[in-house]
Amino acid sequence: MRKKSSHPTQRDQHPKSHGYVHGELVVEGDLPESFRQGLFANPNSYPCWVRFSNGSSKRDAQGKFVPDATRQGDDIVVTSDIRGMAVKVLGVTGEMVPEAAGRTGEQDLIMINSPVFFIRNVVDYLVFFKVMAAIAKGTINFKAQPPLIPAEDVAAVQQVKYALDLVGKIQNSEAGVVHSPLQTTFWSATPYKLGEAAMKYKMVPVTPEPRFDPSQSVDLENLFRDAISSQLARTEAQFDLLVQVQTDATEMPIEDPTKLWEETSSPYVKVATLRLPQQDINSPDRLAEDEHQSFSPWHSLAAHRPLGGVNRARRMYGHLAQERNKDNQAG
Ligand code: HEM
Repeated sequence: MRKKSSHPTQRDQHPKSHGYVHGELVVEGDLPESFRQGLFANPNSYPCWVRFSNGSSKRDAQGKFVPDATRQGDDIVVTSDIRGMAVKVLGVTGEMVPEAAGRTGEQDLIMINSPVFFIRNVVDYLVFFKVMAAIAKGTINFKAQPPLIPAEDVAAVQQVKYALDLVGKIQNSEAGVVHSPLQTTFWSATPYKLGEAAMKYKMVPVTPEPRFDPSQSVDLENLFRDAISSQLARTEAQFDLLVQVQTDATEMPIEDPTKLWEETSSPYVKVATLRLPQQDINSPDRLAEDEHQSFSPWHSLAAHRPLGGVNRARRMYGHLAQERNKDNQAG
C-alpha cells in the first residue's frame, strides 16, 4: 500500500472510487422464516453509505489515476478491470463478531461484478502474485512463441493457471462491461452466515433509466464517476438486495469461491431494497470521507460472520484502513 501510493496513502486494492453515495436500505416485511436472521430479522429502514470502485491499483508516480501506455486502470477500458461495490449499513442491532470491535452497529456488504472470485485460497493468492510480478517483469511471457516460463516457475504457473484464466474471464466478460455502476449487478462472491445457514448475496440494479452511454460522457477518464454523478444529480437510483442460501455443501462449497453456486440449485430471494436518493457526490467533504472510510467483511453481525479462508484473510482490511488513516493524519 505504502509503496504504491503517494500522498494521501490510498487503499492497496480498489483505490479508485467512482462515488461515495448516501442511501437507505429497506428490509422487506414478509420474508420466509429462514431468511429472518441478523440484518433481515425484522422489517426496517437503515441509513447507509455506498462506495463504488475499480479493482485496479495502477497509478502514476504521483499516485494519480491517469491512463498508462496500455490504458489499463482507465475507465475508458470498460472491459479491463474488476469493479467493486461496498455498502455500510448503519444502526443495526445485535451481537457483532469480535473482529468488529469499535464498529458496533455497522453491517458491511462487499461485492464485485462477478458471482465468483478468481482465487481458491490464500496459498494460491501468494503464488498468483509472484507469477503476476514475473509477468510484469517479463521473466514469464505467455505471449512469446513458445511461451516463456523459466523452469523454476513451471510449478507455480501450473498451480495458479486456473486463476490467471479466471481473472481474464471476469475482466473481459459481459459482467465486466460496465456502462454505469448504477446499472450493474454486484455479487458477494464469498459466503457469509445467515443464522445457522450459509449465504451469498447480490445487488441487482432496478433501472428504469436508459442504459448509460459512454459516448455521452464529458469525462472519459472518470467515466463511472460521471455516470453516477450525472444520474444522481437528476434522479434517484435503486438496487434489490437478494440472498442465496447454501443447500448442498459439495455443490455449493464454502472453501472454494471460484465455484459458482448454481441458481438452479438454490434461487436468490429478495430481502431488501437499496435506495440512493438524488444528491451531489462530488463535494470536498464526500471525497475526503470516501478516502477515510473503512469497509470490511468483518464489520459484521455474528449472524452474518464471514466464512471461508479467503474471507479470513480479509480481516486485514480494517488494519490497513487504520494504517492509511494514520499516514494521512500525519500529513
Ligand atoms: C484473499 C483475498 C483478498 C485480498 C488479499 C484482498 C485485498 C483487499 C485490500 C487490501 C483492500 C483495501 C482495503 C482497505 O484499505 O480499506 C480490498 C478492498 C476491496 N476488496 Fe478485497 N481482497 C480479497 C478478496 C476479495 C473478494 C473475495 C472480494 C469480493 C467481493 C473483494 C472485494 C473488495 C472490494 C469491493 C474492496 C473495496 C472496498 C472499499 O470500497 O473500501 N476482495 N481488498
